[in-house]
Parts: sequence; C-alpha cells; structure tokens
Amino acid sequence: MKELNDKLNEIHKKHEATLSKVENKIVKRLKKTVKISKKINPFRVPTHIAFIMDGNGRWAKKRGMPRKFGHKIGSQKMMMVLKRCIELGIKYVSFYAFSTENWSRPKDELDEMFRLARLAIERDAPEFMNLGVRLRTMGDTTKFPQDLQDALAKVTKETEANTKCTIVLCVNYGGRAEIVNAAKQIKAPITEEALTKHLYCSDIPHPDLIVRTSGERRLSNFMLWQAAYAELLFIQPHWPAMTPKIVDQCIIDFQNRKRRFGKVD
Ligand code: FPP
Repeated sequence: MKELNDKLNEIHKKHEATLSKVENKIVKRLKKTVKISKKINPFRVPTHIAFIMDGNGRWAKKRGMPRKFGHKIGSQKMMMVLKRCIELGIKYVSFYAFSTENWSRPKDELDEMFRLARLAIERDAPEFMNLGVRLRTMGDTTKFPQDLQDALAKVTKETEANTKCTIVLCVNYGGRAEIVNAAKQIKAPITEEALTKHLYCSDIPHPDLIVRTSGERRLSNFMLWQAAYAELLFIQPHWPAMTPKIVDQCIIDFQNRKRRFGKVD
C-alpha cells in the first residue's frame, strides 16, 4: 500500500512540474507579445472588472477647459481601457457611463454626453467586431434620445455572437432601481438566488474588482447587489488620465489581495 501511495505521489509531483513548465512557457510568450508586467499573473486576473468613471469634469477644469471636453476625452479612454483588459485576458469589463442621478445635470451637458455616447458606439462598433467584443447594456435606456437607443440596440445585436470579451455599458443605471425591479418580478419564496436571477444582466458574473477613479471612495449606487464580494479600489487619477499602465497597476493591486469570501484561511 505504501509503495502505491509513494508511486502516486511521484506521478502527481511530476504532473505538477510539467504543468507549471507549460504554464510558464505560455506566460513568457504572452508577456512578450503584449508586454505584460512581470508582476501580473495572467492566470489570476479578475473575470469581471468594473469601472466607475469619475472626474471628467475636474480633469477638464484643471486644464481650463469646459466639462464637455473632459467627457470627450473620457469617452475615448473607454476603448483604450477595454483593449488593455482584453490583452490581460479579462472576460467582462463594465463601465458606469450614466447613472439614474445624472439626469440632474444641465441640459447642454446631458445632450453632449448623449452625443458622445452615440459617437463612441458608432465609432467603436467595427473595433468590437475585430476584437471579438460583445456589447451589453445595463439600465433603462428607454429614456434616452431615440438615435442613441437605436445605436445601442444595433451594436448589441451585431456583436451578440462575439465571445472574446463582453463590455457592459451601465447607462441610466441605478443599483437600487435594479434591485426593486428584480424584487417586483419574483414570486415567493424570495431568495437570494431568485433575486440574483432577475437582475438586469443575470447571465454576467458579478464583478471581482470595482475601480473608481478620481479619489472618491463610494459606490454611488453602482452594482449594489453584485458588489457584495467585489474588491474595491479607489485610485487618484481622473478618468481621462487613464493609461494601460494604470490598468495594470489595478490588476497588481487586486492580485495582492486575499479574497476569503467570509471564510477563514
Ligand atoms: C464622470 O465624470 C463621468 C461620467 C458621468 C461619464 C461620462 C459619460 C460619457 C463621457 C458618455 C459616454 C457614454 C457612453 C455610453 C459611451 P464627472 O462628470 O462626474 O466628473 P466630475 O466628478 O469631475 O464632475
């Protein structure tokens, strides 16, 4: 019996060694092609990263520019961040682009945000196809201008079969409204599973990491239910100042944390 156990242990050890060799090769090759920092373990990136984009207005003001300019650069940064997340192997990337509270902004700022959103979606649609990105939206888009609703619906449909990565645009989104909406649809018994199933995007895994730019340390009604076990990261740069390096730093920070999900080590 002892002999058999020793043999099994030996096979197991050998197997482990071969596996890590193969893994190491893949890691080396991957890091060379897309220049991934040595500090990042590509096998431990978050499945879903969500960004609370904040600070467009402040970033512009600092440069003596109108808030709209911050939104313009900010909307362009979304594609850069998405691309870096894809390079790192992240499967779901969410952006909090318009909250249910954003309606209280001046009309001309709202109009500009809607214009930029439509522009960004139309501009980025071919890139989504090239990259294999599927677009999903989360939130009540029916209050948006018709042309924006049409653009969102068109690109959602066009990209629905893409599997490389999913971008979730949270638009006219509020976490409380989402929970109330889910609760209204549940027939008794009310359970966590039932409520989870009735969220806006019930097929999308909940975020592992939520990053908010611009130094504010709150969720502002973002994915309240889904954030239950997410790691929260609050960084200083304003959203328009985002770079691939900052994305990498977020992942390194995430990988240095121990996620216990309420258990002990
Ligand atoms: C926060 O900056 C940023 C937003 C509210 C998102 C802006 C939305 C867009 C640029 C539209 C793009 C949308 C899509 C769907 C592509 P802030 O204005 O709150 O900055 P502040 O805190 O400095 O005032």
